[in-house]
Parts: sequence; C-alpha cells; structure tokens
Amino acid sequence: MQPTITEERERLAPSIAELERVFATETRAVVAARGLTRTYGKGDASVHALRHVDIDITEGKLTAIMGPSGSGKSTLMHILAGLDQPTGGRVSIDGVEITRLKEKKLTQLRRDKIGFIFQSFNLLATLTADENIVLPLSLARRKADAAWRRSVIEAVGLQDRLTHRPAELSGGQQQRVAVARALITRPAVLFADEPTGNLDSRTGGEVLDLLRRSVDEFGQTVIMVTHDAGAASIADRIVFLKDGRIELDEDRMTRDDIYDTIKNLETPAATVRVAVGAER
Ligand SMILES: Nc1ncnc2c1ncn2[C@@H]1O[C@H](COP(=O)(O)OP(=O)(O)OP(=O)(O)O)[C@@H](O)[C@H]1O
Ligand SMILES: [Mg+2]
Repeated sequence: MQPTITEERERLAPSIAELERVFATETRAVVAARGLTRTYGKGDASVHALRHVDIDITEGKLTAIMGPSGSGKSTLMHILAGLDQPTGGRVSIDGVEITRLKEKKLTQLRRDKIGFIFQSFNLLATLTADENIVLPLSLARRKADAAWRRSVIEAVGLQDRLTHRPAELSGGQQQRVAVARALITRPAVLFADEPTGNLDSRTGGEVLDLLRRSVDEFGQTVIMVTHDAGAASIADRIVFLKDGRIELDEDRMTRDDIYDTIKNLETPAATVRVAVGAER
C-alpha cells in the first residue's frame, strides 16, 4: 500500500530537521588560515610564536582569541590582518589569499576589507571625532554613505561629541570613536586587540556592548584578542592559544568557565628537572 502524505512527512521529518540544522550552522569563512607558522630568530635562539595553526573565522560572528602571555595571540592577529607575514602557511580574507599579495595590493586590501581597534585608541589628535571617524574613507577618497554614517554615529552614541578632539573626550568615548572609525568602511572583518585594556570596567562594558551590537545589528564579523574573561564571554566562539597552538576552540562560554579554562592553561605542565651534564 502507498504511504500517505502524512506518513511520508513523518518519515522524512528527521532528515529535514538535520538538513535545516546544517544550513543554519553552515556559514562562510571570511578569514581562513592554513598551516600558519611564525618563527622569530634562528637556531638555538629561535622562538616558535605560531606552530601550524589552522583557523576559519565565520561571517557575522564575534570570535575571541585568548591565551597566556606569549602564547601567540598578537602574532596570530597581526598575520590574519596582513600586518605581518607568516614564516609558513597561508591566509585568505574574503576569498583573497593575502599571503601572496604585494605590499601595494595588501595595503589596498587592508584599507577596503579590514577595520582595526587598538588598545590605545590610536586617534589623530588634531582631528575632531567626526573627522577621525571618516578618516579611512577620506584616505581612500571615498565618501561616506550618509545613512550609514548616521547609523554608525548613533550606534556609538557620539552625536553630541562630533566636534570634540580626542583630548576633550573620555577614554571610553575615544574608543567609541575608534569603533565607529572601524565600522564606517563596513569592513569584511574587524580586528580588535585588547579593545578594553585601557578602560575601566564600566566604559569597557560599553565598548563591548557596541562590538556585540555591530555583530547582531550590522552582521559585522569581529575578531577580538582579550585577556579578560568577562570580555570574552560576549563572544560566539573562543579560541584558546597555548605555546603557539590552538589548545581549545569553544562556542559561547560563561565568564566563570572562561576564567577556569585560562587558569588551567596558565598552569605550566609538571616540569621535570633533568640534570644535563655538568653545570656551566
Ligand atoms: N619581534 C619579535 N621578536 C622575537 N620574538 C617575538 C617577537 N614578537 C613576539 N615574539 C615572541 O613570540 C611569542 C608570541 O608573542 P605574542 O606577542 O604573539 O604573544 P601574546 O599572546 O600576544 O602575548 P601577550 O598576552 O603578552 O600580549 C612570545 O614568546 C614572544 O616573546
Ligand atoms: Mg599580545
């Protein structure tokens, strides 16, 4: 006997649910790195800052990079952003392999596709907040889309500070200018290196809210290096580095779980003292 439509539907339901799950989770990698290594120095004195790192950064997500001091966070971020070259491996941004680009093309790609937020704000002291915000566009001789400019300025809540110079703004306000400056070009990816490192917890929280909203409301892709478990708890994904390797790669975590994970990573593995020959 032929199955009824209802029976067929019931039979297929699990596969349809599975397909829907796959489609929902399948996202595009905006940044993809394969086999990244970075070695400083040569011979006995060489430091392996990155050891064969593979990573895909998905579009429209906030990814935090954490790990003990010296684990390779800044090195990884600088290489992903095309600010430093790896010793081995490759990186693509938005489908373009940046590790093969010549300096001029790389500069252009950075300008068009990448936004940066630094720990120390890095605003130009002689420019007003507004001029700082549109600086990346001015440098590229592009005009801001008026509606987008308004949305960004509203999002960072700086409508009544636009004519102020950095020295006339609080640290939190300066960092909000920096966030707006990074968003104004609608970069494929926004990199933030310890964006709350120089802020107290309240203003730091405001900047984190802003980064989170740029992901939720504008679909921005964000990669943030942070030491702070609270900051990392706003991330969709947390990548933990140790000794130049990805040690853990987790979805959203609570602040407490992040804190415990970091504490574990920082505990050096039991070291065994071995007497190596005569003392020098
Ligand atoms: N220019 C350099 N020359 C030599 N060694 C370097 C250089 N830059 C970084 N290193 C080394 O590479 C390793 C990784 O450094 P990196 O700055 O990426 O660490 P990090 O995780 O960002 O640390 P922190 O949390 O302290 O900022 C460290 O051992 C560091 O000493
Ligand atoms: Mg660092």
